[in-house]
Amino acid sequence: MLVNLLTILLLAPVLVQSLDPAFNDDVLGIKCDSRTNRVSELVLDGFSLSGHIGRSLLRLQFLRILSLSQNNFTGTINPILAQIGNLRIIDLSENNLSGSIPEELFRQCGSLQAISLAKNNITGQIPDSLSSCSTLEWVNFSSNQLSGPLPSGIWSLTALRSLDLSDNSLEGEIPQGIESLYDLRAVNLRKNNFSGQATRGSWWLLAIEIT
Ligand SMILES: *[C@@H]1O[C@H](CO)[C@@H](O)[C@H](O)[C@H]1NC(C)=O
Ligand SMILES: *[C@@H]1O[C@H](CO)[C@@H](O)[C@H](O)[C@H]1NC(C)=O
Ligand SMILES: *[C@@H]1O[C@H](CO)[C@@H](O)[C@H](O)[C@H]1NC(C)=O
Ligand SMILES: *[C@@H]1O[C@H](CO)[C@@H](O)[C@H](O)[C@H]1NC(C)=O
Ligand SMILES: *[C@@H]1O[C@H](CO)[C@@H](O)[C@H](O)[C@H]1NC(C)=O
Repeated sequence: MLVNLLTILLLAPVLVQSLDPAFNDDVLGIKCDSRTNRVSELVLDGFSLSGHIGRSLLRLQFLRILSLSQNNFTGTINPILAQIGNLRIIDLSENNLSGSIPEELFRQCGSLQAISLAKNNITGQIPDSLSSCSTLEWVNFSSNQLSGPLPSGIWSLTALRSLDLSDNSLEGEIPQGIESLYDLRAVNLRKNNFSGQATRGSWWLLAIEIT
């Protein structure tokens, strides 16, 4: 089973627990054990799973990690994910998801620390609600077709350590001084259409490491 490196880094302590062996497949490909109903991690990266990510996940109310990277899920990003209040990590990278990122996804993001939607086919703008997600440490929306400006509040996310928005069609001005923000350690905004003074330094052409 492939586990995303960053997932390991961020949640090594939690990942030590193994998967609940008692799922069966349903429409989604996932079901939690109806006896305990307490699956806390779902790490099914690279399982060639397909279909939509749907309502069945709501049964996993104790889910903390949802990692379905490198599968073949299609359809849009389901806003019901926001109703799983314990979610810390959402990794849906390297699938075939389309549509836009739903505004509701971040409206009440209780304890969300990491989200990756990288390498899908996601369009539209990054929703403003992202700015209210004060627990977010790691955001990766790289290699999609996102467009428009960033939510202005994105630079006020005080917990943010890593932001990868590379290879999209994002635009707008990058404020100066973001390199000194808080705990922000890695920013990758390559292959977009940003402007502003901050973009002039060659450091913007590379992933910035600030430690
Ligand atoms: C994903 O699904 C599409 C459409 O069903 C199929 O053409 C493609 O081969 C699948 N890719 C993988 C990696 O399974
Ligand atoms: C993504 O899905 C579309 C149809 O929804 C399909 O045509 C395409 O081959 C898929 N791409 C991959 C990389 O699986
Ligand atoms: C973002 O996700 C892509 C695809 O999974 C990966 O290649 C890249 O390294 C990730 N970026 C960061 C900063 O982790
Ligand atoms: C992205 O979506 C477009 C339009 O639906 C489609 O033509 C293209 O094959 C998709 N790309 C991938 C990588 O699935
Ligand atoms: C990038 O921005 C410039 C100026 O705003 C605009 O003329 C150009 O069409 C944009 N390019 C893309 C690929 O969005």
